[in-house]
Amino acid sequence: MASLLDAKDSDTLLEPSAGDGHLIDAVKRIVPNIPVTAYELHPKHADNLRKKFPNGSGVDIFERDTILCPDLDLRENFGYKFAKIIANPPYGGWQDHERRACLKKRFSGFYVRETYTLFLLRCLRLLEDQGKLVFIIPDTFLYLHLHSPLRRLIVEEYTFESIDVFKSSLFPGVSFGYAKLCIIAISARNASPEHSFRIRFLDALSEFECAAQTEENSKLVFQKDILKAHSYTIPVSPNQEALHESSLQGTTMGDIAECVTGFYSGRDKEFLRRASDQVKRSNGYEIVDQELVEPHPSSVTNVLEGIESKRSFIPVLKGGGYNFIKPNLWFVDWSRESVAHYRTDKKARFQNPSFYFREGVGFPMVTSTRPTAALIQDALFDQSIVGIFPKTEVSVEFLLAYCNSKPFWVSLKAINPSANNSARYVLRTPVFLPDAEVQAKITQRTKELIYVLQNGDSASEVLMKEILHSITVYVKKMADEKALEPTALRAAAQL
Ligand SMILES: C[S@@+](CC[C@H](N)C(=O)[O-])C[C@H]1O[C@@H](n2cnc3c(N)ncnc32)[C@H](O)[C@@H]1O
Repeated sequence: MASLLDAKDSDTLLEPSAGDGHLIDAVKRIVPNIPVTAYELHPKHADNLRKKFPNGSGVDIFERDTILCPDLDLRENFGYKFAKIIANPPYGGWQDHERRACLKKRFSGFYVRETYTLFLLRCLRLLEDQGKLVFIIPDTFLYLHLHSPLRRLIVEEYTFESIDVFKSSLFPGVSFGYAKLCIIAISARNASPEHSFRIRFLDALSEFECAAQTEENSKLVFQKDILKAHSYTIPVSPNQEALHESSLQGTTMGDIAECVTGFYSGRDKEFLRRASDQVKRSNGYEIVDQELVEPHPSSVTNVLEGIESKRSFIPVLKGGGYNFIKPNLWFVDWSRESVAHYRTDKKARFQNPSFYFREGVGFPMVTSTRPTAALIQDALFDQSIVGIFPKTEVSVEFLLAYCNSKPFWVSLKAINPSANNSARYVLRTPVFLPDAEVQAKITQRTKELIYVLQNGDSASEVLMKEILHSITVYVKKMADEKALEPTALRAAAQL
């Protein structure tokens, strides 16, 4: 990344999310005297940076919010900008409502719920004419519909110099929700009409510096062709023949969410209890004593180790049959001893525990005629459920609505007509993502629906229909524009 910057001692450098200062070190190894301006929000990191780069080291440290701080606004507006910018910005940071409202005003027309694109946008505006920035970000930037306004801005007003795409697992020990990352170099100048750049697809760290550019591992892209692609998508694999075809590369559920199978006790009759004798297919199970139920397991300290108090039964989402909200019908013994047993027992499956008690969407493994996705909230989910957990780009509420919609159902059945919906199939299902505004509306209406369902209001059916209908409407619109990947298009034709 540092070498891609082409920095000189006479340049000025901004590191907008300086962290431990590794990127600053890397640039200074190449250009020791470059003056550096570093921003870092976190007081502890800022403190460490001040120790690492004391007065006189040529690194000025500002403990501030890069996105909203007024001093960077002044630079942006009065032309006191940077020649070079290098960053590994934060990904997927949570923005509260007040901040989001402010960001929407500031970055109107752009998707503001993802921090890495906000950093990119802010930094593009802070680049001086002919300046250059190098960022490492998730490769979702290259194709997600939500980021199309930012891609368009870059294509129209800046110049792509290079993009390197690689698996995040190339960095040993780093594990997070993104399958792939990219290093992207952009210059602040208008691209000439014939400008082209290379996208490289790298499989090993050693290839970063020495990979010969071949047709197998790289692709030459004409910047102006990106404008012709639907949503201004950029190819993310070497086998996408031409750019217009790459534009049909659709988003799948696996791009936007983790899809995992849930827990199994090994001996359900012994460890599970039902809420009442009205629960379907629950013959032979004991009825739970509500005095023994902990209704908010996610607030219990070290809950993955089990619960010590006598309230040690917790709600577990199991099976389908309900849309959006399923009442707590099943409870599982989550005492310390039982959890220790699940962790070691051969028949039990204590699988994917990092997802337990997280908010997500539960989709039943076996469904025959219609989708029934329910919110997972303050509960475990068992192996009859595929747990779907948004990575960064979408809200849980939007996903919940989407997974109950006809477009999701027909796409899922298009790739897997059987009644069995394993996590593998759910991951591969094409997803039609609307623009940020429609997504925000669906999120808001779904929040209302969740409230209404949890508080027993009778108006829920109308609201549910309205939400599901709005999804079909925007998908049909996308299909009419014929801007869909073939499987998705076939699926949409059935709506
Ligand atoms: C992935 S780390 C960067 C690592 C860094 N590039 C290095 O070389 O060590 C992201 C950093 O951004 C900081 N950060 C998050 N939000 C920020 C904001 N709004 N303004 C400034 N820094 C922020 C985090 O505290 C974190 O240290």
